[in-house]
Amino acid sequence: MHRSFKFALATLLAMPMHVPIALAEGSLEQGEKVFKRCAACHATTDQNKTGPGLAGIVGRAAGKAAGYNYSPSLASSTLVWDEQTLDSFLQGPRKLVPGTKMTLSVPKPDDRQSVILYLKSLAAGN
Ligand code: HEC
Repeated sequence: MHRSFKFALATLLAMPMHVPIALAEGSLEQGEKVFKRCAACHATTDQNKTGPGLAGIVGRAAGKAAGYNYSPSLASSTLVWDEQTLDSFLQGPRKLVPGTKMTLSVPKPDDRQSVILYLKSLAAGN
């Protein structure tokens, strides 16, 4: 217990200071599991359900899926979805975009990191 804590601490201290700690861990495999929380509302394709289709979401401007009826706040947002903006959206959707219809948040940083990796794997145009 103590030894692994010390090890974790040593690893943390050995990391270059510019590495954002919130984005430290995550895996595609875990991301696929976390996405099960999203799948009720989101397709991994261009198809819109309760939420917009998420194919190609990473790198896309927010609120731009064709044919999806966004909330006025997301529709008028100037955000572009990248690792940082997705991380903060998934941490607290209404903190980043007040008035958004999406309310589900992902509290654990490594779950967010993993699901973002998974989103990155969803190519546009599917
Ligand atoms: C209960 C339904 C629901 C769940 C569950 C849900 N979402 Fe959403 N999501 C929405 C809705 C509705 C919107 C559109 C919000 C708006 O128009 O304000 C949205 C929007 C988004 C957007 C912005 C899309 C765009 O085109 O700008 C992303 C990214 C997103 N969701 C990711 C996720 C992820 C990742 C999860 C799982 C961790 C998730 N959502 C879970 C309903 C949901």
